[in-house]
Amino acid sequence: MATDSVAVQLTGIEKRFPGVIANHDVNLTVRTGTIHAIVGENGAGKSTLMKTLYGMHQPEAGTITVFGEQKVFRSPSDAIAAGIGMVHQHFMLADNLTVLENIILGYEPTKGGRIQYGEARTKLLQIMTQSGTHVDLDAPVSDLGVGQRQRVEILKVLFRGARILILDEPTAVLVPQEVDELFSNLHRLVDDGATIIFISHKLDEVLTVSDDITVIRAGTTVAEVQPKEVTRLKLAELMVGSELPSPHGRASEVGTLVRLQLDHITVAGPGDKHALDDVSFEIREGEVLGIAGVEGNGQFELCETIIGLIKPLSGTLAMEGENITHTSPHHRLMNGLSYIPFDRHREGLLLEAPLWENTLLGRDGDPQFLKGPFINATAAKADSRQVIDQFDVRTPSELVPAYALSGGNQQKLLVGRELSSHPRVLIAAHPTRGVDVGAQAAIWEKLRAARDAGLAVLLISADLEEVIGLSDRILVMFDGCINAHLTPAEATPELLGTYMTGGVQEVAS
Ligand SMILES: Nc1ncnc2c1ncn2[C@@H]1O[C@H](COP(=O)(O)OP(=O)(O)O)[C@@H](O)[C@H]1O
Ligand SMILES: [Mg+2]
Repeated sequence: MATDSVAVQLTGIEKRFPGVIANHDVNLTVRTGTIHAIVGENGAGKSTLMKTLYGMHQPEAGTITVFGEQKVFRSPSDAIAAGIGMVHQHFMLADNLTVLENIILGYEPTKGGRIQYGEARTKLLQIMTQSGTHVDLDAPVSDLGVGQRQRVEILKVLFRGARILILDEPTAVLVPQEVDELFSNLHRLVDDGATIIFISHKLDEVLTVSDDITVIRAGTTVAEVQPKEVTRLKLAELMVGSELPSPHGRASEVGTLVRLQLDHITVAGPGDKHALDDVSFEIREGEVLGIAGVEGNGQFELCETIIGLIKPLSGTLAMEGENITHTSPHHRLMNGLSYIPFDRHREGLLLEAPLWENTLLGRDGDPQFLKGPFINATAAKADSRQVIDQFDVRTPSELVPAYALSGGNQQKLLVGRELSSHPRVLIAAHPTRGVDVGAQAAIWEKLRAARDAGLAVLLISADLEEVIGLSDRILVMFDGCINAHLTPAEATPELLGTYMTGGVQEVAS
């Protein structure tokens, strides 16, 4: 291959952290003008590798060559100067600034010391048209949803002149329509001569959109394949390095005790709309009730109402016969309710805090973690090690901060924490979102085991295969209402999709 047709060449990269070899002997060749996917299990070392390419980490060994020129990046600004841009897994935007201010931050065009907003705007409008990536430049970032924030991050990278774009799990946070749009925009960029490196766990999308695929396992590159040459299963097996666990059957019985009951719950929404409109259902011991729906159709409000963070306008809520409609979230959490929240970064974990403080979160009133009025750190750490162990959280110890874990390991920790308080009702919002196939299978297994032991689970998921595979019954939410009720046997992704977009279920007579 001629060197000018290679955008990035990494050779023998090694990167260590205290107690961890995140990357060793990594070799990667990315052809100019292609979409190159990096796949691998959580903790395999994908983000570390990309941060090294982006100048955020300095490798212990190995070389980085960009467009045929060997480089040493001391910081991201060196990488940016070489034409590399990175959109991180967790966005790094300033909430209090507008979209325009965020994009140009640190790279403001100036004249005589004054920022040339007009010039920046003109350039951005051109970039938006060219890339198909549109956002309201004057909107405050705090008003934007996750999909729009991602577009801001992409525009920021393009504004700085990147010709090589790294996207770390860009689709983990997007709904299907947004994913399609993202990929069509990435294709436009590639047509325009850009090179895209993207990390993903979703093998179907990797197989559809990428030109080349590099598989990383346990810190090193183990295969480079082309989508035509592999099946989804083969790719998954390359990732985990062995044959995959087969999907489980459903053996447990649903009991008779009603653990959670919602009766005619209505919740205020924006304007005079209702976020939830007359929602009723019950979940019994040992039962998983799945909720399918396009995000934003009331699922979030449903969870927050059950937890007690939202007060319903009308209707009642009961746990095992006790009316809890007017009780506090604390009361509910202390009495058998658990919550795997929508956004593990915003609501679930303290990223700066060590793992043992994270596993203690929400359970710090539990006498087993108290010594008089104080936290019994020894007990909390021992408990944390147990969660880490039982839920296969890959980490050197309970003392490392949560941000050092990969997404899948963070999620396993969170699920572990919620299940280790032995709840009787669990709200599981997207329990495996953004995690790889190995971690997903592990989380499913734990949820199934807890269900078999009598747990009632409300499962909210955008992954329809997950909803169908885990649930005993499935409800579809649309526009704050429940508009279909199916068994997993009759549900298909297509049928669910019809109801999710407002199709009405025919009622059997
Ligand atoms: N800043 C860091 N400090 C310590 N360990 C880290 C840091 N970043 C990543 N690691 C560790 O390096 C390994 C690879 O992590 P990562 O590159 O995030 O994996 P992936 O992106 O493939 O999920 C993991 O064991 C992770 O805990
Ligand atoms: Mg990662």
